[in-house]
Amino acid sequence: MTQITPIRFAETEIDKIAAFEGRVAVFADPEGRLDAGARRVNKLVRGALVRLIESERFGKLKEGDAVSMAFPVGLAAEAVDVVRGPRNLGMTEARKAGASLAKLRDRSDLLVLAGSMRRVAEVAFGLAMRDYTFDDHKSDAKEPEGAVTIMCSKPDKSRAEADPLMAVAEGAFMTRDLVNAPANVLTTTEFAKQLAEMAALGLKVEVLEEKKLAELGMRTLLSVGQGSDSPSKVVVMQWQGGAKDQTPLALIGKGVVFDTGGISLKPAGGMEDMTMDMGGAGVVAGVMRTVARRKAKANVVGLVGLVENMPSGNATRPGDVVKSMKGDTIEVINTDAEGRLVLCDVMWYAQDRFNPDAMVDLATLTGAIIIGLGHENAGVFSNNDAFCNAFLKAAEKEGEGAWRMPLGKAYDDQLKSRIADMKNVGGRPAGSITAAQFLQRFVKDETPWIHLDIAGVASVKSDTTLAPKGATGWGVAALNRLIADMYEKD
Ligand code: BES
Ligand code: MN
Ligand code: ZN
Repeated sequence: MTQITPIRFAETEIDKIAAFEGRVAVFADPEGRLDAGARRVNKLVRGALVRLIESERFGKLKEGDAVSMAFPVGLAAEAVDVVRGPRNLGMTEARKAGASLAKLRDRSDLLVLAGSMRRVAEVAFGLAMRDYTFDDHKSDAKEPEGAVTIMCSKPDKSRAEADPLMAVAEGAFMTRDLVNAPANVLTTTEFAKQLAEMAALGLKVEVLEEKKLAELGMRTLLSVGQGSDSPSKVVVMQWQGGAKDQTPLALIGKGVVFDTGGISLKPAGGMEDMTMDMGGAGVVAGVMRTVARRKAKANVVGLVGLVENMPSGNATRPGDVVKSMKGDTIEVINTDAEGRLVLCDVMWYAQDRFNPDAMVDLATLTGAIIIGLGHENAGVFSNNDAFCNAFLKAAEKEGEGAWRMPLGKAYDDQLKSRIADMKNVGGRPAGSITAAQFLQRFVKDETPWIHLDIAGVASVKSDTTLAPKGATGWGVAALNRLIADMYEKD
């Protein structure tokens, strides 16, 4: 797994600045006073820092943005990175500040002079999140990573505050690594193996193999994977950090390691993007890592359905009818609408076995959600306003775009089949909503449920504030916060 950059918190030692050989970062605001570290830097560079801060260019920066002075006279450093930010920088801007520094740093040593900044831990979190590269398959030799030190007025306090945030970064990195991995590397078997390794963090992990899935009656899930040489699997991860009698929050993820469309084969152009079709399972894995790593006082169970959707002589055909674990029959009109067939059995199994307090499923489910919401927001569907609002609030706080979409009987009617209880596709109109309606048929009325369609946000083609292009790790922070809000407040 890609390791997060270790960040050291230390007391400010003014006399170490002049000889430091990496990059030195300071915070400044045209209206505010410089703190001691920045004042020392300014003195060493003979006033150049103040000239920069008073420049028109610096005045135009937004809070959290940074500019660099390269090879400054008077310092051994290769650059001084100057972040626009007052002492009381807000949470989002503090994270952005950290991200700005990570982007400028590349692999150099970095000394951040944070002085008496209020949100040092959030700066560290932004730095860690943005300092990600997926280079597992690059063969050129890597330079060793430099070290990051943040000098600040309360290093012990900042370190303690940063610890649970670093657990989130670790979870998000796991999600990104999984989502970025090519499908010949991340097979269903390899995926399950990586999840099983999380037992070392105190999670209880079980891998259910095809024979067991058949016994349980998960025919729709198995019908998706039957055209592939990789065996279908369901992995169950349990974190028991809360009260014994508290029923768990269940997280369910779509883990299609590659989606060719099956017999309803996708066109060639862009098909390589379907390596990310296990994004829902990737987020579930990341959240489970985060809650275990920070020892959350909550009960959370994560279940992922791992399959590969391939065409073959043994693949499901359009027109085939399969029976779900719930007992409902489904006419498979289009083998490319496979995610819902995976999720419906896993969701049913999760409710059957764990009687969850609430359930969230995540899936790169429909192209239609990208048409509707682009890459800015995930689609949010729910049968429970209070639960849904709690999630939307958590996502907003974490800066992870989420937008609620409607459900309703008229959409559900689009799923009627002539020969079975339902078909797996409701036609072109409202494609994301009919997909959600399909899933809702497998939610017990009394289970508060959220469906997150993350097709547009799991992996993107340009950089975002906290991630380079590629897998984002969207959802790990929001779901971690939801868990904290719902179960860990006294
Ligand atoms: N995995 C795709 C959805 C997807 C599309 C994810 C683009 C990420 C980016 C899903 O399995 C799929 O193929 N959906 C079909 C459904 C259709 C056949 C009803 C789609 O969206 O076209
Ligand atoms: Mn598909
Ligand atoms: Zn898919």
